[in-house]
Amino acid sequence: MIFNDLLLSALHKEKTKRPPVWLMRQAGRYMPEYMQVRKNVSFLELCKTPELACEVTLQPVEILGVDAAILFSDILIPVEPIGLELDFNPSPVISNPLRTENDVNKLKPFNPESHAPFVYKTIDLLIKKLNVPLIGFSGAPFTLACYMTEGAGSKSFIEIRKMMLNTPKVFHSLMAKLTEDTIKYLNAQADHGCAAVQMFDTWAGILPPLEYKEMVFPYVKEISENMKVPFIYFAKDGAAYFDTIKQLDCAGIGVDWKITIQEADKRLDHKFTIQGNMDPALLFSNKDIIKKEAENIIKQGMECKGHIFNLGHGIMPLTPVENVKYLIDVVKGLA
Ligand code: CP3
Repeated sequence: MIFNDLLLSALHKEKTKRPPVWLMRQAGRYMPEYMQVRKNVSFLELCKTPELACEVTLQPVEILGVDAAILFSDILIPVEPIGLELDFNPSPVISNPLRTENDVNKLKPFNPESHAPFVYKTIDLLIKKLNVPLIGFSGAPFTLACYMTEGAGSKSFIEIRKMMLNTPKVFHSLMAKLTEDTIKYLNAQADHGCAAVQMFDTWAGILPPLEYKEMVFPYVKEISENMKVPFIYFAKDGAAYFDTIKQLDCAGIGVDWKITIQEADKRLDHKFTIQGNMDPALLFSNKDIIKKEAENIIKQGMECKGHIFNLGHGIMPLTPVENVKYLIDVVKGLA
């Protein structure tokens, strides 16, 4: 079995013959094989059953032929053991969201191996089976704090905005706690064999740039400086913060589709391996459009220090699998 280390080469900024490719949310509801497993268990049970989480992690590697696996789990998994009641329907619901200083003070210390043993068991199973790198992940403190205060998804996440504006000390104590937890959580994933880790900051983009810079970015930086393996930071709608984000000293930056790869690379001082950035909606179009856009992205990626082909955000439910397979083949030079 030859190990495919294209992803690691790209993260180390070595020249590769083509960009490695994986897709955010590559395992999930758009895939009939996933639905087959999922019909018998809830999403949380799936995350907590290592044999099943391992099986669905492997599906896109086997079916699509991507160059990396991403652990099947969710960014919110660590909030349950520290004291929040979590459910998915299918979007996350937390029935006891954090609102006060007392709520934040009551959060329990996080111990990854004893609080989320299934995560590490899943990684152990995967490492024995994979011939591509396994990517571990977490949510970023701000994005976790958005859900933990709101108790559900939202467009504005007004509860965290209120906390930032009215009780900044409480906000900072929450961010500091989540930062500490995230460092432990990700490094334990690395200890079990994840070759790289990605931190998702899905909601960072709701903030004005100065608020991001002063209240959120220092925690991102602290995490990035304490990682044992190459670290990729993905802030969705983060282009307005690139002047700040470029101060990171990490391997990769994920980019969404609202900026070109060329422009992103320039604004990030040509420092990073750039990951992205095809618009996931294009997977609902046709082969001509998909091929043209993929080639356009690959061409721009060749000018970067390193490029990992990905979407600008996760694959959406109902995406035609055939188009996803075709995209992977195009990037691999097979179509
Ligand atoms: O990428 C992968 O294939 C790995 C698995 C993964 C999931 N969630 C599985 C999932 C990863 C990396 C995540 C990250 C995640 N989870 C993020 C950050 C990335 C992003 O999408 O912005 C966020 C914000 C969450 C929180 C979350 N989990 C939401 C908002 C939802 C509902 C929306 C949706 O897509 O259903 C989930 C549920 C979820 N997480 C599902 C999957 C496969 C669907 C659950 C189901 O099977 O019903």
